[in-house]
Amino acid sequence: MAQALSLPEVPAPKYGDRLQDKVVIVTGAAQGIGEAIVACFQAQQARLVIADIQGEKVEQVAAHWRDRGAQVYAQALDVSVREQWRAVVDLAIARFGRVDVLVNCAGVNVFRDPLAMTDEDWRRCFAIDLDGAWFGCREVLPHMIEQGTGNIINIASTHSSHIIPGCFPYPVAKHGLLGLTRALGIEYAPQGIRVNAIAPGYIETQLNVDYWNGFPDPQAERQRALDLHPPRRIGQPVEVAMTALFLATDEAPFINAACLMIDGGRSVLYHD
Ligand SMILES: NC(=O)c1ccc[n+]([C@@H]2O[C@H](COP(=O)([O-])OP(=O)(O)OC[C@H]3O[C@@H](n4cnc5c(N)ncnc54)[C@H](O)[C@@H]3O)[C@@H](O)[C@H]2O)c1
Repeated sequence: MAQALSLPEVPAPKYGDRLQDKVVIVTGAAQGIGEAIVACFQAQQARLVIADIQGEKVEQVAAHWRDRGAQVYAQALDVSVREQWRAVVDLAIARFGRVDVLVNCAGVNVFRDPLAMTDEDWRRCFAIDLDGAWFGCREVLPHMIEQGTGNIINIASTHSSHIIPGCFPYPVAKHGLLGLTRALGIEYAPQGIRVNAIAPGYIETQLNVDYWNGFPDPQAERQRALDLHPPRRIGQPVEVAMTALFLATDEAPFINAACLMIDGGRSVLYHD
């Protein structure tokens, strides 16, 4: 039986003021983990510019929260096209006058047999999963350096440090994203900028629903994923969002060039 997302469309966020005065850009914000980050951050009084290649859908997410009193503005963006980044940062500066946090969340699964893979697949994977994050950093860093403070959060993956057969070249790009995180974290720490990564394991989003639906028995494949995890479940987008929230606040001032794994302990398990 084909699998569908079993999530409420918008997770219920906890309200507070942990991001009061912070201006945040989130990519990949039209659905999944990015959308959950927006829900979580707006609830903590962040002022947001959210971007996605699905321009209409990301505008709907922004309108949803604006209707509820939040300051959330949307911009269509293909993260892999460097020139398009300018409009996103310009919007943040025009609306809010600064950029405190960038969350690079946009990403795609490209899972191919290495030798059957086309050059186009290879380039698409790197263009979105690695170049996209770099172009974002490239665009916000001058503002952050000028401010003397800034915070970049890259949504990496357990594939940034572990290899699962059949997933090439996604882990190559995600390893690169972790390298980018570490390199920029070290490079710009003296200027008051932190760069960290979050490495989610299996999270229930459309990305994985599509993946399961590619198998002859999607239900069995979903169950197999659940059984791989010590808590016998996979993660929810809001669980990644809460970790991004922690990193985005001033509660993590000495966490830099780090990668926080969110996988229910799966990557520590040797054999089940
Ligand atoms: N779901 C998981 O299990 C999981 C695990 C580890 C890492 N991740 C990472 O988390 C991030 C979010 O994934 P998700 O599960 O929410 O997936 P998703 O497919 O639900 O959402 C990804 C979003 O990125 C957007 N996007 C894709 N290409 C883009 C582009 N070129 N420019 C701008 N936006 C683009 C999509 O439109 C979509 O809104 C990705 O970087 C993914 O690699 C996900």
